Amino acid sequence: MKVLVATEKPFAKKAVDGIRSIVEQAGMTLSLLENYTSTEQLLEAVADADALIVRSDKVTRQVIQAAKRLKIVVRAGAGYDNLDLEACSEKNIVAMNTPGQNSNAVAELAIGMMIYMARKQFQPGTGTELRGKALGVHAYGNVGRLVAGLAKGFGMEVYAYDPFIPASVIQAEGVHVASSVEDLYSRSDYLSLHIPANDQTKGSIGKALLSLMPKGACLVNTARKEVINEPELEAIMAERKDLKYATDVAPDNMEALRAQFDTRVYATNKKMGAQTEEANVNAGLAAARQIVAFIQNGDRTFQLNK
Ligand code: 3PG
Repeated sequence: MKVLVATEKPFAKKAVDGIRSIVEQAGMTLSLLENYTSTEQLLEAVADADALIVRSDKVTRQVIQAAKRLKIVVRAGAGYDNLDLEACSEKNIVAMNTPGQNSNAVAELAIGMMIYMARKQFQPGTGTELRGKALGVHAYGNVGRLVAGLAKGFGMEVYAYDPFIPASVIQAEGVHVASSVEDLYSRSDYLSLHIPANDQTKGSIGKALLSLMPKGACLVNTARKEVINEPELEAIMAERKDLKYATDVAPDNMEALRAQFDTRVYATNKKMGAQTEEANVNAGLAAARQIVAFIQNGDRTFQLNK
């Protein structure tokens, strides 16, 4: 029984060691494909794998078809927009994620980005503080909730909007509930995005919402680049000389944004929200345990393609 860990962006060594130990104790073998640069390498490695662990690696229909023995794929992380669930279901392959396991790392980065932007990307000059500012949390899932808690520690006034979570649950945590998504954006000096990328959300953050934000507001995106309407973002930033954008996922028009807006825009070189040793260990080991539990006991907790 072969478990393949295919990570274009590798886990920390401690996480790989932990995964190996779980897999080998269960009598399975671990195969590693790290830092790969072409789909062909993944197609070849997955051919005889019984189980697959990935991060943001794209598990397309082509990958699923090449995987002749695959029974389970686990996305070690939260967002599963990189998995073709339909192709998995057609071949009776169980797909899972590991929700919550890397959330703290992402939440800390979101706060770090707010400070970085408030302090003008550490360039000389006078910045501002987070204390007393309003933070809007768009989607109150595992990451949004942690960001809200950290922001309260900084003395921010926190608002959230999430139609899938009862207002009473959000309010019980000392967070105000925005009455609509428009209400959220119009209140937010900082807006932290935590919506998934799906057919409903792709391209949904554009001029209509961003133009509602208060003077000097900053949008922080540690979610997915696909949720932003990039041409509209560029247009509103050109129109509103006060708006700022910090993102953990460089937009396609990053060069144009950088050229026009300088320190009003920032993007990490490579998505790094979940790139901590702790998050790698949490998500990687959870993925390995879920595979063992499924193979040995048929445990389908966290199955996505039901
Ligand atoms: C997630 O959805 O869990 C995060 O975006 C982390 O993605 P990564 O594993 O590619 O860093």
